Amino acid sequence: MERTFLMVKPDGVQRGLVGRIISRFEDKGFQMIAGKLVQVSEAQAKKHYAEHEGKPFFDELVGFITSGPVFAMVWEGDDIIALSRMVIGKTKVTEALPGTIRGDFAAHTPFNLIHGSDGPASAEREIANFFAPHELINYSRSVSRWI
Ligand code: RTP
Ligand code: MG
Repeated sequence: MERTFLMVKPDGVQRGLVGRIISRFEDKGFQMIAGKLVQVSEAQAKKHYAEHEGKPFFDELVGFITSGPVFAMVWEGDDIIALSRMVIGKTKVTEALPGTIRGDFAAHTPFNLIHGSDGPASAEREIANFFAPHELINYSRSVSRWI
């Protein structure tokens, strides 16, 4: 079982797409173990995107991600890091295929709606940047009890 950090970016929150984006991961069979609305600070944004420091789009990216609330989440599932990035779609909107979140909803880079960790080390670092250990909830789902 693997964990990843997923975050609906400010454009997704502003456009009212949080629910539909969450549904994509629920539909795939993954499990959310933490989630909250966060107004990202500049320091937190720079830490989150540290790998991109120095790139021409860095300042714009930090400005974008701090421009309004995001919905930060931790999800769990087998191979979730690779699989969730497939659900998300390619970074550039011109390459994001229909059927992916970005392919279906995003029309301009960098406003591509959702972030997903790109490897186990970044997942661990990004989760720690947004959540305290006690905020990650371990639970098993038993659907038959509720329907
Ligand atoms: P993310 O980290 O947000 O999940 O996106 P990603 O892995 O698909 O893409 P990454 O290369 O990590 O880039 C991070 C975010 O920076 C913005 N970006 N803008 N203007 C540009 O050329 C450019 N390139 C990247 C996007 O918002 C991208 O998601
Ligand atoms: Mg990335």
